[in-house]
Amino acid sequence: MAIRSGFSSKFGFVAAAAGSAVGLGNIWKFPFEVGENGGAAFVLLYLGFCFLLCFPVMVTEIAIGRKTQLNPVGAYKALGYKNWSILGLLGIVSGVLILSFYNVVAGWAFGYFIEMVSGNFGIGAQFGVFIQDVFKVGAYGFVFMAATAFIVSKGVSGGIERAAKILMPTLIIIIIALVLYSFTLPNAMKGVEFYLFPDFSKLSFPVVYSALGQAFFSLSLGMGALITYGSYVGKDDNIISSAVLITIADVGIAFIAGLMMFPLVFSQGLETDGGPGLIFVTLPGVFETLGPTLGIVIGSLFFLLLSFAALTSTVSLLEVPVAYMVDEHEVRRNHAVWLVAGFIFLIGIPSLLSNGYSEFFTSFITYFGTEEATNFMTLVEHLANDSFLPLGGCLIAFFAAYVWKKHNLVDEVSKGNPNFSNSLIGKYIDFAISYLCPFILGALFILTVLDRFFGINPIA
Ligand code: PHE
Repeated sequence: MAIRSGFSSKFGFVAAAAGSAVGLGNIWKFPFEVGENGGAAFVLLYLGFCFLLCFPVMVTEIAIGRKTQLNPVGAYKALGYKNWSILGLLGIVSGVLILSFYNVVAGWAFGYFIEMVSGNFGIGAQFGVFIQDVFKVGAYGFVFMAATAFIVSKGVSGGIERAAKILMPTLIIIIIALVLYSFTLPNAMKGVEFYLFPDFSKLSFPVVYSALGQAFFSLSLGMGALITYGSYVGKDDNIISSAVLITIADVGIAFIAGLMMFPLVFSQGLETDGGPGLIFVTLPGVFETLGPTLGIVIGSLFFLLLSFAALTSTVSLLEVPVAYMVDEHEVRRNHAVWLVAGFIFLIGIPSLLSNGYSEFFTSFITYFGTEEATNFMTLVEHLANDSFLPLGGCLIAFFAAYVWKKHNLVDEVSKGNPNFSNSLIGKYIDFAISYLCPFILGALFILTVLDRFFGINPIA
């Protein structure tokens, strides 16, 4: 059995879970998804999904984790539903796939930190060249995975908890300062308009499922990361208030990251649909305008702290398969960590090569009904992030409502929150877990797969 090192305090759990949630998903992915998916209308959908569909799933994951004190596979078994452990396995597969590409992007962020330290503001325009320098970027990714593995091998409550408490607020302060600065730039208000005033003519089904995938990804939901972390929550902690804090922190940071990005994009005359390169192309030029010294300081700090935010997320992604190996296969923690980290680094190599270096991985697949090829990294993201996570969320809700049964969920959440079942939130969660989450998420999952991979859209 694993030796669980409990978090030192309630704040410790919330900090670590928020650390898992807040990462590249908020600062790198959210802005570029908004930019690619028409702006404010996407933002609205994202907010709706986070609070209405994801929040109940988050509460359920934490409750299952606290109840069973196990990894996702072990958790379903411990509750007495061995067959459902396949859902835990789906989560582990999703986590492994996500970490494989996440680590590549984390390598970019870390590489940008080095570039900023040396004052290379021109790297923004050179982004396309930078990501094709696969040996360099691969080395950064390697360092990143090694750092992740090192932290996970030391157990959860050690380093991350302490560091997160200092570094995350610093990152938020820098982003807010950049928001204020961005507002002073020419054309800034056009960016604000794009970001905050919805143009519903831009809504389409892909916008809907991209927003849904983004909501799950950003909140680290649907794969059991919070089942694993939930196992570290104390019996008398209030799961609801923790989940509220985590959700608000995560959504809040994504929101201000978007508020920072679009004025900057518009003031530089760049396109909003710059894809995964958006922050990497846009920000160095902005740092340059701060002057050589301040530019280097703020630019380096920004990418350093972004790397750190990514690290608290990669740690949670690695923790899931590691906890599984330790609990279910009795592998020693240290061995499990390095084995899994090495494996994930290797399966991330095609993603690393798929940004222009290798033609094969760059034009990897052409979905039915489209003409443009999708690269390997985007394929993995479409599969794990936009399809498996919402599916996982749907099935977790279904499991809690109809298999494990709601009264067990309510019992668990009521520990540390005796009024839960009579509260408004309690009633909403009851409703959402029974109807909204399983059926809406299930339907969206099917429609997403049909539309994205097969070009079939039954509702259009
Ligand atoms: N939520 C993380 C981010 O926004 C990514 C993540 C997804 C982490 C799933 C864990 C599980 O960067």
